Amino acid sequence: GRVAVLFGGSSAEREVSLRSGQAVLQALLQSGVDAYGFDPKTQPLAELAAEKPDRVFIVLHGRGGEDGSMQGALQLLGLPYTGSKVLGSALAMDKVRCKWLFRAQGIATADFRVLHTASQATPALLAELGGKVMVKPSCEGSSIGMSVADSDASLQAAVTEALRYDSNVLVERWIQGRELTVAVLGEQVLPVIEMRTPHSFYDYNAKYQASTTQYLCPAPIDAALTEQVQQLAWQAFDAVGASGWGRVDFMLDQQGNPYVLEVNTVPGMTEKSLVPMAAKAAGLSFQQLVLEVLAQTEQ
Ligand code: DAL
Ligand code: MG
Repeated sequence: GRVAVLFGGSSAEREVSLRSGQAVLQALLQSGVDAYGFDPKTQPLAELAAEKPDRVFIVLHGRGGEDGSMQGALQLLGLPYTGSKVLGSALAMDKVRCKWLFRAQGIATADFRVLHTASQATPALLAELGGKVMVKPSCEGSSIGMSVADSDASLQAAVTEALRYDSNVLVERWIQGRELTVAVLGEQVLPVIEMRTPHSFYDYNAKYQASTTQYLCPAPIDAALTEQVQQLAWQAFDAVGASGWGRVDFMLDQQGNPYVLEVNTVPGMTEKSLVPMAAKAAGLSFQQLVLEVLAQTEQ
């Protein structure tokens, strides 16, 4: 039957979603699937409801697409869709609540505070978190609105910037070390990837533009650590109620301890993206990956 591929949307990650969605749509068409694109920014949902596709492939990133609202709408419309359901989607979008859950489950995650105003960004808070922090809007993706701060002035600026995107701002203790990620596909955990960038972290530019970013897959870490990180990825994915497919991001500190950063329920599917890279290392082409995600669809 027909498959509607949802991409674009109205979030701050629209541009990324356009790229991810084009790639997914093309792969489906090349595989002989009767697929078509649908952009909720320009097309009313009533149109999708009237078209009654047999399945919906969600490639929307960020708010309005990855956060449970679209999933809820599709659920009510009776249209089967890819990936996490309402609860897992909504929780995974909220980094603060994910960290509360991780803590409750004994899953290591960096120390943090939650702020709602720039006036809460005090020198004492910076000192409590070790003098260097990562500041993030709670509900964003692709590193949008994120910055590193290691002085009172840079903390003020970082919190002010993050507040442009969300009234909940996460201030996390800086973890000096390596960036890793693990893709989940169905019940399977894919090979670990390490991302290396000369930037202070794997930011928007390093993700989608820079030619200086290096990807190592499988990550050059020993077998025991690989297994530990993969197990943690599954635990984190499961803790937030995610399902179908996704990607769990990590920091590895200099002592070799992994910390979960977050769970992404509609990870990037651009040519530079990580899940396709991990799939390839596991022997799955981009087309096979896309078909596998589609196969995870259930009502
Ligand atoms: N939020 C971006 C698309 C990712 O996680 O890959
Ligand atoms: Mg993310």
